[in-house]
Amino acid sequence: MKKHIVVLTGAGVSAESGFATFRDTGGLWEQYDVNDVASIEGWYRNRQLVLDFYNQRRAQLKEAKPNAAHEAIAGLEKDYNVDVITQNVDNLHERAGSTRVLHLHGELTKVRPENGIYDRTASEAEVIDVGYRPVVLGDLAPNGSQLRPHIVFFGEAVPNIEKAINLVEKADVLLIVGSSLQVYPAAGLYRYAPNGCPIYVIDPKSVPLADPRVTFIQDVATKGMAQFMSLAPWN
Ligand code: APR
Repeated sequence: MKKHIVVLTGAGVSAESGFATFRDTGGLWEQYDVNDVASIEGWYRNRQLVLDFYNQRRAQLKEAKPNAAHEAIAGLEKDYNVDVITQNVDNLHERAGSTRVLHLHGELTKVRPENGIYDRTASEAEVIDVGYRPVVLGDLAPNGSQLRPHIVFFGEAVPNIEKAINLVEKADVLLIVGSSLQVYPAAGLYRYAPNGCPIYVIDPKSVPLADPRVTFIQDVATKGMAQFMSLAPWN
């Protein structure tokens, strides 16, 4: 039976692909007010500003490439049963070849009607993949309402959190790459790992996890993944 490795990633795994993280020096939340561009109140206050913010990030994603960390995570699938749970809205895990990726905070290339039924039914039926093209005011969904980013804004529920908990509860190994673990409920996922499940954390900065199961690999994602692989089979 192949070991089940669950990989929880944050913005740090895409840093070496040229994407600013959120909370590092010079990060996105230093350049923009998170309440303006990533909250549900911000959306209803100024839709155009929010659409522009995600149009810029979608255009950047078109030019970006997965890095060696995304590729190493995808490569785990050769020998192990792998699930990626990502807080990232980019598609770099998929483009590196990961086949089971659960997005907790939405996906940059997707939009949905602003007054749809998504949040209540968590149905993917209303979600439209626009690829890398911009979305503007007046781009309407089939139900006639404005198309909005398929992103979990601050102030909104995280429809995929139960699925994520179910995956972590079944992990033989939990690997956390590039997250400051400051945003719940994603930040609390590691607590659901089984008692005997080793937890590895890859981050150039120390991440406060007072958990005896944690082995900390203090490095950037690409180098940290090489160190993680050298520790296989992690029991
Ligand atoms: N390799 C690995 N980790 C890195 C690298 C790198 N090259 N560069 C930075 N990091 C680490 C930082 O030290 C930090 O711990 O990545 C982490 C990034 O933390 P955040 O910027 O807080 O990003 P994240 O944890 O993904 O934020 C969670 O917050 O704003 C919301 O929805 C947004 O999904 C995001 C959520």
